[in-house]
Amino acid sequence: MRWFAIVIVLVLSGEPLRADAPTGEQIYRKQCASCHGANGEGSKKYSNPLVGDRHVGDLAKVIAETMPDDNPGACVGADADKVAAYIYDTFYSKNARERNHPPRVELSRLTAVQHQNTLADLIGSFRTN
Ligand code: HEC
Repeated sequence: MRWFAIVIVLVLSGEPLRADAPTGEQIYRKQCASCHGANGEGSKKYSNPLVGDRHVGDLAKVIAETMPDDNPGACVGADADKVAAYIYDTFYSKNARERNHPPRVELSRLTAVQHQNTLADLIGSFRTN
């Protein structure tokens, strides 16, 4: 049974699972959403949407130095990095905004399909005549 003891020792000495470390999204909901809105759209307290062209590293720096506005210093280091990455990927960056609000791509694609269908109908109607 010595192998059993060895396994136990290995398991217990392993890196603790950091299930308690909050994700960027959790940090955002807890510390930022009250002013910036659930999806960065802004709120009564601060109506400007959280969008821009800062790089993600710059964003983390701004956050660590100035945010939360009512308690600067409460979100620094790894927390600032995580929340910056979350904001950037979810709604802040140009890519995120285009993904969330595709600029009429859907519309033009539909129109193209409709156009094809219309052509196919026309051609079909000539064939049967
Ligand atoms: C008490 C309200 C409040 C809270 C909470 C808050 N913010 Fe802000 N935030 C503001 C205000 C007001 C500004 C504009 C400040 C300025 O321009 O000096 C701002 C600006 C910012 C900017 C700068 C946007 C830009 O491009 O210049 C970022 C990024 C930001 N906040 C992120 C966060 C993050 C991340 C959190 C949570 C850790 C947070 N904020 C929490 C009120 C808040």
